[in-house]
Amino acid sequence: MRTASVEAAVAEGLFRPISAGGLELRNRIAMAPMSRYLCPDGMPHEDVAAYYRCRAENGVGLIITEGTYIGHPTAASYEGVPFFAGQALAGWGKVREAVHEVGGRIFPQLWHTGSFRQSWMPPMKGVPGIGPSENLNTFTNHSEPTRAMTDSDIAEVIDAYATAAADAQRLGFDGIELHAAHGYLIDEFFWAHTNRRADRYGGDRRQRTRFAVEIIQEIRRRVGTDFPLSLRFSQWKQQDYTVRLADTPDQLAEVLEPLVDAGVSILHASTRRFWEPAFPDDSDLTLAGWTKKITGQSVIMVGGAGLDRPGLNEAMPASLAVLEKPLSREEFDLLAVGRALLADPRWPIKVRVGDLGACRPYTKSLLETLD
Ligand SMILES: Cc1cc2nc3c(=O)[nH]c(=O)nc-3n(C[C@H](O)[C@H](O)[C@H](O)COP(=O)(O)O)c2cc1C
Repeated sequence: MRTASVEAAVAEGLFRPISAGGLELRNRIAMAPMSRYLCPDGMPHEDVAAYYRCRAENGVGLIITEGTYIGHPTAASYEGVPFFAGQALAGWGKVREAVHEVGGRIFPQLWHTGSFRQSWMPPMKGVPGIGPSENLNTFTNHSEPTRAMTDSDIAEVIDAYATAAADAQRLGFDGIELHAAHGYLIDEFFWAHTNRRADRYGGDRRQRTRFAVEIIQEIRRRVGTDFPLSLRFSQWKQQDYTVRLADTPDQLAEVLEPLVDAGVSILHASTRRFWEPAFPDDSDLTLAGWTKKITGQSVIMVGGAGLDRPGLNEAMPASLAVLEKPLSREEFDLLAVGRALLADPRWPIKVRVGDLGACRPYTKSLLETLD
């Protein structure tokens, strides 16, 4: 009985309208960015528009799209990921319209895959991966060293991020998210293991944020101060779930404060299990909670909502009672939901009526199609 009443209170909390990063949202449910690798020509077609529209129609407040490549020859690596540049922009305009038609809001997630790229990878075969330093094998099965970025590479990539953000604004998107998590390019600059530069882009934790800071500043210069700008960061890396950007709240502040000073309006704290304490020796606050406490900014929490385990294989619906504490302590503004929404577009409706048990479980086979 208690679980049912807690879940009802949590659902009520999630469906409260909110203002986050300057954006008015009808509720606090965001769709987490999830690459679907189903755009073989790098373009989002009608099926992509229908996929996001369907989540918005069923109540998601804010859609954050799958990672989309910025318009730089080194950005891409995985096949089937859409670009947010060139001819793909017309398709993104239609995706935006489809989501707005049903009352949703939408940000594209802007992505550069950094050292994940190898020169044999499409679509720009022969172009090597670039990163902050020459790194070998930061991702498994990669034998080719990343080329360390020159100052002109850095300037070009910053320009590509800012162009994508300006295009998003022009196309009527509600904001953008920078993918600065999971070991990809921006995160490689944050992480001492992959950033061994001796120039102004390397150094201590605060100095390693400079690349991100310059991207944010250039975006702000192009889109103005009011356009919502989210930045997704993580402790964990795709290459290693156990590594950390910060071992203490003070170290986390060293990373986050320069980003906020530069103009980020929403911080998206990516974890695999949102309820885990970020720094157990200090308190039981989550990573989202610490992010809010340190910066006072709007915060998105994510990781395991509505499912019983992390990972890409399979997971069953699970209670949302675990949200009670962070919700009552106002540790977050928005809850991003990934696999549960991929599996069941009607997830928000089912949560609202207390029918979580009826949600479709998540299985890997769902990744094969865009339903
Ligand atoms: C199929 C799949 C693709 C993903 N692609 C991205 C991505 O493009 N960008 C990103 O920041 N995170 C990506 N993630 C991570 C999710 O956004 C989310 O943080 C993670 O799945 C945990 O949330 P969940 O437990 O609610 O699924 C992906 C996750 C999945 C399952």
